[in-house]
Amino acid sequence: MTVPVNDEDIQDMDGDTVDWRTLWTETERRVGDRVIARWICETASGADGQEFLECLDDPATQRMVAHLDSMVARYLDGEPLQYVLGHWAFRHLEVMVDPRVLIPRPETELLVDHAIAALARHDRPLRVADLGTGSGVIGLSLAMELWHDAMEVWLTDVSTDALDVARANTAGLGRAASAVRIAEGSWFEALPPVLEGRLHLVVSNPPYIGAGDVAVEPIVHGHEPHLALYADHDGLAHAMSIVADASRWLVPGGVLLLEIGAGQGSAVAALLRDAGFHDVQVHRDLAGHDRFVQGTRP
Ligand SMILES: C[S@@+](CC[C@H](N)C(=O)[O-])C[C@H]1O[C@@H](n2cnc3c(N)ncnc32)[C@H](O)[C@@H]1O
Repeated sequence: MTVPVNDEDIQDMDGDTVDWRTLWTETERRVGDRVIARWICETASGADGQEFLECLDDPATQRMVAHLDSMVARYLDGEPLQYVLGHWAFRHLEVMVDPRVLIPRPETELLVDHAIAALARHDRPLRVADLGTGSGVIGLSLAMELWHDAMEVWLTDVSTDALDVARANTAGLGRAASAVRIAEGSWFEALPPVLEGRLHLVVSNPPYIGAGDVAVEPIVHGHEPHLALYADHDGLAHAMSIVADASRWLVPGGVLLLEIGAGQGSAVAALLRDAGFHDVQVHRDLAGHDRFVQGTRP
């Protein structure tokens, strides 16, 4: 259906308005999944959760249906659902996502649990750096969940585009946004020198897929930024850079916490031990794969 885009109610062939219940069913038929159809309809209608269910009998406007049609077309064309919707849930946040940033993964939500546990050992004021922040989900979750006016959370990335997304997501954070600082550059080079030896936590989900890894799903390789996915040395190059410099930036007792690829646990744990970290631990994700490594600066 091609529709002129304005804010008039949309009408069917008989001149009747079309409600969201009908559009949801039609969208389910087109995308083949009732839940995905609901998310697309929620985004098009601007109402979600209970609010969407309460507007099922309301008529849709032409502008809303044009948006819905364009989302369905992109989804059927193979674009990741998260980019099609333009937003995605991560812990307590609803963040904007688009092809400038990696789609936040569920396992990274667990990384935030480990980060919160690591910070529990430290008194305020707390200073945290989320290196390679992408959409900002790790650092923004920490700022929101641990918010205190004596907290600083640094979001860094080498990608200007990614930082634009992180900045937009910071704006939606409310009072916790006051804890957030944004800086551009490669790993620790982004941070102001005054932070050396003063961070309580350095957390990062760096790119960790080896270039040419054939196990990467085509939808991932074809749509997500390669700068966010791939690293040299079998995916370990960025972890090596971060581990090499982290001690210099942490307070004694401060923690370095990294997300890693399944299968990289022992290699990254060895990097941390060789760099002088104590209490080095490898944590698993819900699928039982090695997924996070942490160590403490003595
Ligand atoms: C795997 S993504 C993680 C994004 C986000 N933290 C998350 O967990 O969803 C890796 C991020 O590291 C960034 N990155 C790549 N190389 C970098 C570098 N040399 N310095 C800083 N950030 C870098 C990418 O732009 C990307 O945003």
